[in-house]
Amino acid sequence: MPLAFFQFLLSCNQVQLLSIAGLLDYNTTETTLSRVEKSSLLLAYEFNAVGPVLVIKHMWLLLKVGGHSRTERDVTVVANLSTRVGSIGDNCLGGWHSYRSSKAALNQLEFARKKDPIICNLLHPGTVDTDLSRPFQRNVPEGKLFTKEFSVLKLLGIINTAKSHDNGKSFAWDGQEIPW
Ligand SMILES: NC(=O)c1ccc[n+]([C@@H]2O[C@H](COP(=O)([O-])OP(=O)(O)OC[C@H]3O[C@@H](n4cnc5c(N)ncnc54)[C@H](OP(=O)(O)O)[C@@H]3O)[C@@H](O)[C@H]2O)c1
Repeated sequence: MPLAFFQFLLSCNQVQLLSIAGLLDYNTTETTLSRVEKSSLLLAYEFNAVGPVLVIKHMWLLLKVGGHSRTERDVTVVANLSTRVGSIGDNCLGGWHSYRSSKAALNQLEFARKKDPIICNLLHPGTVDTDLSRPFQRNVPEGKLFTKEFSVLKLLGIINTAKSHDNGKSFAWDGQEIPW
């Protein structure tokens, strides 16, 4: 999915940077704090927070100067795929400590910058039929496991209508704002 997802969005010529990399390691079986290991925390942080933020860092000048040059908009959109479970305010279940906390870190590191014409958004794609969700798909209620195409179109709708005041916010596939 990821590469196809990325190429599809790029071909729409309206997103200037979309970061989709992510890791959810099921082998850690983090159901309680006692099972959390340093190695899985560090791995998740590296994949889910450090990598995406460094990409943005190195692309920032380019995005600022010409990121929206071939679009009809006067702002550049930087969209990172995050997840609802990265929300501290939305965390009712616990577990998945490494994944949750690394996405929460991404949410914070994806800072809001007011002086540059760049909108940064964190997007939750829903539960999508990919390798990442495969191990827990049997627990997903009927009708709640989305195809990649459905999710991409929903996310594009959000990206295409993003306004400057949306900078620094997190949205789910249905446009609902997700609390930090
Ligand atoms: N699927 C869902 O239900 C769901 C729900 C909520 C959020 N998300 C988020 O959506 C994003 C995409 O997930 P997915 O479902 O497409 O997962 P996926 O099928 O497991 O794909 C993850 C992709 O991230 C790439 N990746 C991971 N770490 C990387 C790194 N350090 N550098 C470069 N590429 C890296 C992987 O590359 P390789 O193929 O080379 O390993 C892979 O292509 C993730 O950020 C995930 O957290 C997914």
